[in-house]
Amino acid sequence: MNDDLQKRIQAALANPQNMGELTGADAVGTVGNADCGEMLRLWVKFKEQNGKKVIDRATFQSFGCETAIAVASLATELIRGKTAEEALALKTEELAGELGPLPPMKIHCAQLVEGALRSALEPEKVEDKPASPAKAPTLLDSFSRPKDGTVKLTFLDEEK
Ligand code: FES
Repeated sequence: MNDDLQKRIQAALANPQNMGELTGADAVGTVGNADCGEMLRLWVKFKEQNGKKVIDRATFQSFGCETAIAVASLATELIRGKTAEEALALKTEELAGELGPLPPMKIHCAQLVEGALRSALEPEKVEDKPASPAKAPTLLDSFSRPKDGTVKLTFLDEEK
């Protein structure tokens, strides 16, 4: 990754926007990438504005990948005030906003954000249907509570 992109990612991470669960959300979408193990959940709340239903606020939770967190931070700001259709029309590289073009190995990080947005806004088109906003567990819950037959992830203490 080039130094400029790394600096822009670090700048976005220094003041991440819209992190955390959004209580009272109207929609929630969750996606995971089996290759890198990253998961991202996105909550969306709508409001009426000039007779249109637009996104009032969107928040996210993510573990691990800095690029996905940086893109989610920028994308959740970018989609405010847009209708669901306008938000869905944004291309992957547009969601990454001021990060600019991502290198090929990092494009899937932005696609994770795009996937969570699609999962929230058009769940009928996404195979893994999201839980309803009221019942959606936090990502930490998802990691901590294994279903039968699944592996429980245990986080290691930070190296000293
Ligand atoms: Fe997989 Fe970023 S490395 S989402």
